[in-house]
Amino acid sequence: MIKETDFLVIGSGIAGLSFALKVAEHGKVILISKTTLEESNTKYAQGGIAAVTYEPDNFEKHVEDTMGAGDGLCNRKIVEMVVQEAPAQIKQLIEWGVNFDQNEKGKYDLGREGGHSEYRVLHHKDNTGEEIQNSLVNRVKSHKNIELLENHFAVDIITQHHLGKLVKRSHKDTECYGAYVLNLKNDQVDTYLSKITLIATGGTGNLYDTTTNPKIATGDGVAMVYRAKGIIENMEFIQFHPTSLYNPGVKPSFLITEALRGFGAILKTFDGKEFMHKYDKRESLAPRDIVARAIDHEMKISGSDHVLLDATHLDSEKLKEHFPNIYKKCLSLNIDITKDPIPVIPAAHYMCGGIKVDKNGCSTINRLYAAGEVSSTGLHGANRLASNSLSEAVVYADRAAKHTISRTNHIKINKNIPEWDTKGATYTEEMIMITQNYKEVQQIMSNYVGIVRSNLRLERALRRLEIIYKETEELYQKSILSQKLCELRNLINVGYLIIKMAQDIHESRGLHYTIDYPKKHTVSEF
Ligand code: FAD
Ligand code: SIN
Repeated sequence: MIKETDFLVIGSGIAGLSFALKVAEHGKVILISKTTLEESNTKYAQGGIAAVTYEPDNFEKHVEDTMGAGDGLCNRKIVEMVVQEAPAQIKQLIEWGVNFDQNEKGKYDLGREGGHSEYRVLHHKDNTGEEIQNSLVNRVKSHKNIELLENHFAVDIITQHHLGKLVKRSHKDTECYGAYVLNLKNDQVDTYLSKITLIATGGTGNLYDTTTNPKIATGDGVAMVYRAKGIIENMEFIQFHPTSLYNPGVKPSFLITEALRGFGAILKTFDGKEFMHKYDKRESLAPRDIVARAIDHEMKISGSDHVLLDATHLDSEKLKEHFPNIYKKCLSLNIDITKDPIPVIPAAHYMCGGIKVDKNGCSTINRLYAAGEVSSTGLHGANRLASNSLSEAVVYADRAAKHTISRTNHIKINKNIPEWDTKGATYTEEMIMITQNYKEVQQIMSNYVGIVRSNLRLERALRRLEIIYKETEELYQKSILSQKLCELRNLINVGYLIIKMAQDIHESRGLHYTIDYPKKHTVSEF
């Protein structure tokens, strides 16, 4: 089947949904999502969305905090742009029906997280993401110009390569004509032709054993664009959230928001001793790279498999009121957070790098945009400041929308694209070939390419990954496609990019720490 549209949006998180709502005023939109519209990283966001609202906060402070967390690799112009544009985009979210908590005086109740010098995080209890996701999904459902396709998995974006032409990463004239999409209800790969395509497929937490990300986060967008010869950057900066609930075997790991530390909770070793003062003067509220590494170190020296987050000294009624979901979740495991410290461990959480985009969300492939976690804008540098990703996503969805609108009239849909070739393909006989490799990839990445790295670990990881890559490519070439197979292939691609980029830098910076080069080089700002 071949379908045509003005805008093809891949992904139904905050980036894809808000872009779709904006461009739908100017043309037909098809929005695809690989499971349900509701399932996304966005839905699980807890802490909130960072933006300057009231004094004593101001743009300069938010800029400096973002630059500080990014450890010298943020692009200052981009940081200033996002910080300045975020308040207007948050206003837009509110107009679309998103509720943020207010205090008795009718002002927004601002939270604080690691690396922020002020209270500036707008939130809805401890389930901000769900509030945003539901409001935007309701909105897109009632828009007549938006066609919503659930259980549709984007396999590859279409370029001149599919017309038999050679496409290289250095080429400036590569164009995106749409995407091949696997309909998970009938296993058919359909051709979606578009004037503009937006990739908003989110992150890649499932590359690791322990992650806060739901199952959908398998790095599909990065892998698709890499295969299509777009530029991917900064993949070595994978953010581990310091505090996910220690609950072995349960996936994804339930997040214990950093806002709880902003509220006064304190990190302690498994036997109840404070330790963050040894690592940073901001203690439990230092930026995430520092806190996650400190926890990793404490766990290694004590041999324990978790540390504790202690909120027992805080006002118990206020604690329950501000963090009702965390209270409920922990209580279901017999942990009463008003009386018991919470066992926590770091978990893979956020991909700081991704598809390289300019200030309008344009990738290096013409007619292809990227927004949200899948993109690399220059905002996060070597480490993302907490709650900056939701703001980044709405700012870039808005910029990309504005940039595309004037262009669609001049773009013609390319009608010569061949349909997906399934000749000779058969169903994979043994799913174990896929599931075992999936687990192995997660183990390789967790054990060798995690919070602390070394030359030896990276080399070993690459060698192991190459074997799995070859096996998976062989299977892919002869199989009728399945979601699991495509996701495995994408994870291998993304793992490879993380390792290669980590091997290329001979220093430790932000989220990339290696025992072989523990020091940081001096860099000048962009
Ligand atoms: P997502 O919300 O992840 O959406 C991606 C979409 O793409 C999904 O609909 C998915 O199904 C779809 N998709 C993926 N691949 C394909 C494919 N091949 N074909 C079709 N569809 C596909 N950030 C903050 O700023 N503040 C917070 O408080 C916060 N808390 C967080 C808490 C948790 C537990 C997690 C996991 C993340 C948190 N983050 C937070 C990060 C933030 O939620 C994400 O970075 C952000 O929501 C990403 O939005 P997105 O639109 O880019 O992608
Ligand atoms: C959290 O609530 O701790 C997560 C915030 C984020 O990832 O930005």
